[in-house]
Amino acid sequence: MATGISEMSFHATTRLYAQHFCTASPFISPLRKNAKANQRSLHARSWGISEKTHNFQNINLSQPFQSRKKFIECHCQQASDIANLSHDEANSTWVQDAVNKVSQVLGSTNGKSAIEFENGSAKHGEDPTLVMPEPAKDLQPKKTRGSSLVEDEAWRLLVESMVYYCGGPVGTIAANDPLDSNKLNYDQVFIRDFIPSGIAFLLKGEYEIVRNFILHTLQLQSWEKTMDCHSPGQGLMPASFKVRTVPLDGDENATEEVLDPDFGEAAIGRVAPVDSGLWWIILLRAYGKCSGDLSVQERIDVQTGIKMILKLCLADGFDMFPTLLVTDGSCMIDRRMGIHGHPLEIQALFYSALMCAREMLAPEDGSADLIRALNNRLIALSFHIREYYWVDMKKLNEIYRYKTEEYSYDAVNKFNIYPDQIPPWLVEWMPTKGGFLIGNLQPAHMDFRFFSLGNLWSIVSSLATTQQSHAILDLIETKWSDLVAQMPLKICYPALEGQEWRIITGSDPKNTPWSYHNGGSWPTLLWQLTVACIKMNRPEIAERALEIAEKRLSIDKWPEYYDTKSARFIGKQARLYQTWSIAGYLVAKLLLEKPDLAKTLWSEEDAEILNALNVMVDPTNPRRKRGKVLKKTYIV
Ligand code: GLC
Repeated sequence: MATGISEMSFHATTRLYAQHFCTASPFISPLRKNAKANQRSLHARSWGISEKTHNFQNINLSQPFQSRKKFIECHCQQASDIANLSHDEANSTWVQDAVNKVSQVLGSTNGKSAIEFENGSAKHGEDPTLVMPEPAKDLQPKKTRGSSLVEDEAWRLLVESMVYYCGGPVGTIAANDPLDSNKLNYDQVFIRDFIPSGIAFLLKGEYEIVRNFILHTLQLQSWEKTMDCHSPGQGLMPASFKVRTVPLDGDENATEEVLDPDFGEAAIGRVAPVDSGLWWIILLRAYGKCSGDLSVQERIDVQTGIKMILKLCLADGFDMFPTLLVTDGSCMIDRRMGIHGHPLEIQALFYSALMCAREMLAPEDGSADLIRALNNRLIALSFHIREYYWVDMKKLNEIYRYKTEEYSYDAVNKFNIYPDQIPPWLVEWMPTKGGFLIGNLQPAHMDFRFFSLGNLWSIVSSLATTQQSHAILDLIETKWSDLVAQMPLKICYPALEGQEWRIITGSDPKNTPWSYHNGGSWPTLLWQLTVACIKMNRPEIAERALEIAEKRLSIDKWPEYYDTKSARFIGKQARLYQTWSIAGYLVAKLLLEKPDLAKTLWSEEDAEILNALNVMVDPTNPRRKRGKVLKKTYIV
């Protein structure tokens, strides 16, 4: 029977649910097998061989949707007793109280937390690797001098945004406005949005939710994910997931909870979230640093997860650049904004994830090639960004005088940038003191817009040099009225207007000038600003920004973003009670109170990378030409 394209697409795009049943079951799921396969492949995998599962023969297009559901693990009781969920409750009275409050709101009754993970062969109380670390005593929740009503409210809201799966906390909902009837996907746990929540919990000594988040999203990574019969690389992490309660197959009186991920196949614009896996690695490292519990990162399934992400990012392609080539909207800015190609934000997260992964990867024979590739990429990426993305007055003047159409290995204007591309606003805007990393670089194209997250995370990850890092902060100070104004922090500067807005955003009514992604102001960016400022020993900049945010956030009901050039209005379509606005504020607050804790979040400049870079730029080095120098810089 001929199958129409639309029918094929329907079947191929139908969702595969993750199911997690909370009482022991003889049921062995396909996903368990899948997980085992992953575990096996850690030893067996040759990194050059694709293990993609997008085999058309394997997709039974005539099967109804339900029968292709995949299951993991144990059987879930109907409602979970949130009060009983924590196995280290003695240490977690603060969160337990909050949880009890939430459980009353949710009307929960008795149930058990019995999270099992096949890969880690772990059961609470049985596997010593699963024993939760004790919260650091000095991090125990307590009233601090700086605590305020706003802070108390923020903690309450953060706790209320917690999402539970089979009785255990697994994440935080993106926005939690009870009066919002059009939730779209804001009722899901977004990977990127959870990062500040996770860090706020870690800084408070509450580790369980982060650990659960890491392990559950890891399981989602192995999902079969397709859109119109095409599958992305296996290591892709979802943009978001939702916990759904659905009727239990074959028992109309019972329900079960399922994890339902979105890898971009339902997201507006259908964009694969490149940043999710990178953030996952960064959070995993932060979990280990804050909790002291390295058993999670040492687990074989977690090691495989790291490698799968790296494999996807380090795969050879057609590109001449060491930067990661991505589609538009593959990060925090998750819709068309002219950031396809090699956007700074992705490069900074990529660099950061490589640094973190290198710290965590267990040295073993099978990983030597991967680690070598990782090290080479770190050096090449760092050189490329520091050298070609950087602009300040001096560099701008060089570009202004560029010769074009140079054909040679030693071209000064390697990317054939026409000086006319320097936008008039930048000529006026660039301060004499300060500089920044541009938003994107492609052949004959420099995107000169200032993107906050990319610049801040380049400081945090040490992708930028120390000098560049200070210059970025200088620029933020000098351009305070443009970048901070009445709410930190502009997502990018300046906004696209007129014809440029029409062409680049596709006339997107959500991204009108000075709104949302197009020059809107996002309070969540406060936490990245704070880590960057503390790292550079300039906390006063973040303190000033926090003071501004603190005046409005609670009164305005914690909006997702603000509009207008100086951030005067609550965003046109901004959600209220946006969790990462709340968590971003809390992380900034906690770190400014205890700046030492910020160390757990940044990466120091690596001496070996620095050394390799010095060799690369040394004019007396005969191997400098034609990029030969990178090949053997590292001995693994
Ligand atoms: C918006 C943001 C995205 C965020 C999501 C959920 O789509 O652009 O970065 O993850 O909302 O808050």
